[in-house]
Amino acid sequence: MRVMATAYTLSCFFILLLGLLLLQVQGHARRHTCFSAIFSFGDSLQDTGNFAHAFFNTTVSRPPWGNTYFHRPTGRFSDGRLIIDFIAERVGLPLVQPYLAGGDFSKGANFAFAGATALSQNDLGRFGVHTTGWLRKNTLHAQIRWFQKLLQSHSSFQGNIELIRD
Ligand SMILES: *[C@@H]1O[C@H](CO)[C@@H](O)[C@H](O)[C@H]1NC(C)=O
Repeated sequence: MRVMATAYTLSCFFILLLGLLLLQVQGHARRHTCFSAIFSFGDSLQDTGNFAHAFFNTTVSRPPWGNTYFHRPTGRFSDGRLIIDFIAERVGLPLVQPYLAGGDFSKGANFAFAGATALSQNDLGRFGVHTTGWLRKNTLHAQIRWFQKLLQSHSSFQGNIELIRD
């Protein structure tokens, strides 16, 4: 519980970033939306399952998480949907899949990781904040590296990228 509280505190202070990347690929625009994929970065506010995928049997892998909408735990730190889910629904795209779970990312991927910090471990250290464990690893920078890796492996993503910051 102490670990989760620390993660939550760091989240509140340092993150994040409802960073939302909507990728627009020319020629693939559908009638009801001009977006063909969503890429999301952030912390537990946006995490649709990366944390739960990385850590077996965590709190959010068990009820009552997910009860309200999905009727099962999905790895979201919510009993219902997250903002990213509502955005995906609104623009007519599938719910954004957690990157660490693998799969088909042609419609986007979610890199958000619960407890992620925007700053690196070293930068936080300068402010007297010391991070340990997964908090060190899954920072915004790491998430962007995952995104770059995904872009390199999908030639179809070489399109017109539009960045939206909330
Ligand atoms: C998951 O964690 C809970 C609470 O610690 C425990 O009761 C349960 O047996 C665990 N389940 C598995 C499959 O390890």
